[in-house]
Amino acid sequence: MNTSKQVNVMIGLLFLAFLAFGAYIVNEPNRSATAAEAQDELLIHRGADLFVANCRTCHGLVGEGGIGPALDLDAFLIFEEGNEEGAPVTPEGDIRTVETFLHNTIACGREGTAMPVWSERFGGPLSETQINYLVQMITTPGAWETVEEIGHEHDIETDTDPATVVLPGTEAGTLGITHGNCGQYRGESRQEIISRDPFSEGGEDAEPTPTELPAEPEAQAMIQGVLVGQFFQTNCSACHGADRGGGVGLPLLPSTLTQADDFYVDTITNGREGTAMPAWGEQMTPEEIQSMVTFLKNVEP
Ligand code: HEC
Ligand code: HEC
Repeated sequence: MNTSKQVNVMIGLLFLAFLAFGAYIVNEPNRSATAAEAQDELLIHRGADLFVANCRTCHGLVGEGGIGPALDLDAFLIFEEGNEEGAPVTPEGDIRTVETFLHNTIACGREGTAMPVWSERFGGPLSETQINYLVQMITTPGAWETVEEIGHEHDIETDTDPATVVLPGTEAGTLGITHGNCGQYRGESRQEIISRDPFSEGGEDAEPTPTELPAEPEAQAMIQGVLVGQFFQTNCSACHGADRGGGVGLPLLPSTLTQADDFYVDTITNGREGTAMPAWGEQMTPEEIQSMVTFLKNVEP
């Protein structure tokens, strides 16, 4: 090889290196978008694994329903900017409502039905993180395809006949019934959520979202996936009145709660011996109890 050939080769190599580097730079935004997608896919994969292992028997092989209702509803889908389906971006309020509804139902089960309690906080088998994977899976467009693939692999590995996976509805009566619960959805709010249409453009005459955030910051705290006021209605109103004006229990109004926070935190945590006031320390965290006291002392019914 003479010198001028060597120089040519060098120039050629430099040029190639330059091209490769340029391509890398140009590709950079794509690469990070792909990384985010891969991350999402991983979460959905985990949610799908959990669904196959725990939920198929009642909710159908791919969420089409069985003993339990269908979970493959459009109403549960959340759409992001630039989604392939061309659906409008799901408003923040709807995202919150849907995620809270799903998380709360899965974590707490449904009292008086076959839907079990899943959160380990309430004695179930799944962590909060695992429940989040399930919620992410149910709300991501197209994720049921992953469930189908994973279910199929699972059935081959374990030599299961898919026809035997879903329990026939008639056996529902023989299933265990869930007792106790950490927060219930009123029938009408469930109805609103499952009839939501994520493809319709919101706008001036759109329905207001079911749970609009209250104005007072003290009322925006969440307890076990629901707003503090809703938690009160579910768990406390039977004794303290829906308007907090008292009944079996004392009134719980800013004007009547004149002691220091600690006094009421203690009452809620430990109950009041010799009265009907139960202890909530096992069911609520200290932070949740403090949020409840702050709410009761500051927000008018
Ligand atoms: C033993 C049967 C059973 C199993 C297992 C089960 N569910 Fe359910 N699920 C039900 C029933 C029954 C309902 C409906 C309860 C009612 O009538 O309100 C339900 C309701 C739900 C709902 C609310 C849907 C709606 O339209 O209100 C969600 C979400 C849900 N289940 C998710 C799950 C997930 C996720 C799993 C797995 C971790 C699971 N379920 C496992 C029986 C089951
Ligand atoms: C089964 C009925 C019952 C339920 C349910 C109940 N309470 Fe009570 N609560 C009472 C009674 C009765 C008292 C009054 C005790 C007494 O005589 O000192 C009381 C007292 C209180 C007090 C002290 C009020 C004061 O002025 O000293 C607070 C705060 C309170 N309850 C909060 C709650 C919260 C929050 C919940 C729901 C998480 C709840 N209670 C659920 C019956 C109940």
